Amino acid sequence: MANIFGSLDSEGSVFRDERALMPEYLPEILLHRDAEIKELALTLRSAAKGGKPENTVLIGPPGTGKTSCARHVLRQLSEYSKRALPIYINCWELSTRHAILNKLAISLGEIVPRRGVATDEVSDRIAEFLKKEKRVPIIVLDEVDRLVASQYGEESILYDLARGSEVFGAPIGVVGITNHEEFLTKLDTRIISSLSQHRIYFKPYSPQQLKDILGERVKLGFASGALGEEVIPLCAAIGAKRGGDARVAIATLWKAGKLADRKGAKKVSVEMVKEAAQEKVEHEKLENLEPAEKKILSIVEKGPITSGELYEKIKGEGVTDRTIRNYLEKLEKLGLIETEIRADKGRTRVIRRVG
Ligand SMILES: Nc1ncnc2c1ncn2[C@@H]1O[C@H](COP(=O)(O)OP(=O)(O)OP(=O)(O)O)[C@@H](O)[C@H]1O
Ligand SMILES: [Mg+2]
Repeated sequence: MANIFGSLDSEGSVFRDERALMPEYLPEILLHRDAEIKELALTLRSAAKGGKPENTVLIGPPGTGKTSCARHVLRQLSEYSKRALPIYINCWELSTRHAILNKLAISLGEIVPRRGVATDEVSDRIAEFLKKEKRVPIIVLDEVDRLVASQYGEESILYDLARGSEVFGAPIGVVGITNHEEFLTKLDTRIISSLSQHRIYFKPYSPQQLKDILGERVKLGFASGALGEEVIPLCAAIGAKRGGDARVAIATLWKAGKLADRKGAKKVSVEMVKEAAQEKVEHEKLENLEPAEKKILSIVEKGPITSGELYEKIKGEGVTDRTIRNYLEKLEKLGLIETEIRADKGRTRVIRRVG
């Protein structure tokens, strides 16, 4: 029987279990990715017997299930065999050779003091451990292009890992994940061939596929009957329009649910989905602004202002008239401000915040 306290939690809410809608939630079933999952499993299968897995790169636009599929396959592999040791690294968080080697050593159970251990020594310890223990680490390098983008030549870690068998004298598997396949061309040819023995492509989801994915998630996350008609198709259409992105589709639905709760509504409506989508787009726009653009916006937010007054306020902080004009143009294109030439004010430009 359902727990009484559990059911109280969702009382007065359209949600059954909001956690199922959160970005880090890994569903049991990943719909429409059977082929990609199988292909990845095939490249890694030899690790289960202590052999060398093939290195693979997963490539595709945002929200197409790359990270989820990698986590799913690695979870299954480690349940199937104690030999394989999955290690997940996000290269936005750990972006130096030293940090990545440390994480690897720690995952192998080595104790590495935060400071004072030279990278080469960490590397030696890893090699020693691997030879002794006969376990096969499979290292997922998510957002791997980040290593190449960094100006410090951190991609040398890719060389160490991709040719792990030679460098550490033991088999190692690497699964790179990226939105930008072209990053590979910036690498040394030897790294390219060993890192991307396989490339698995993730295509944008179609509206129908997004509907299926949302349908599964709704069963877990929402109370029954909490969604109005056409809510799922609309969220799917929004995700499809934004590049076949399941993250956008799910996040829009989640936000619409929050709106329903805030309004005290029993059902999520199409209007709430539209409002949620609008809010989300606005939020993303603001997040991606440069500091100077944010500054301009914060000034304009206080009330309409002429271009002359605005220039006076931000000039002298290393910005020129030209750059200010560029910022204004961009903010206007994003629909965050509007500018108007006022004849009554001697043809000056007046800037105001919209939305
Ligand atoms: N096939 C699927 N079935 C169920 N949920 C999915 C599926 N694909 C993606 N999702 C969900 O969509 C969201 C985004 O997926 P994921 O993080 O795997 O995308 P990604 O390709 O790694 O995106 P990015 O390139 O932006 O990192 C997650 O919340 C995930 O649970
Ligand atoms: Mg990802």
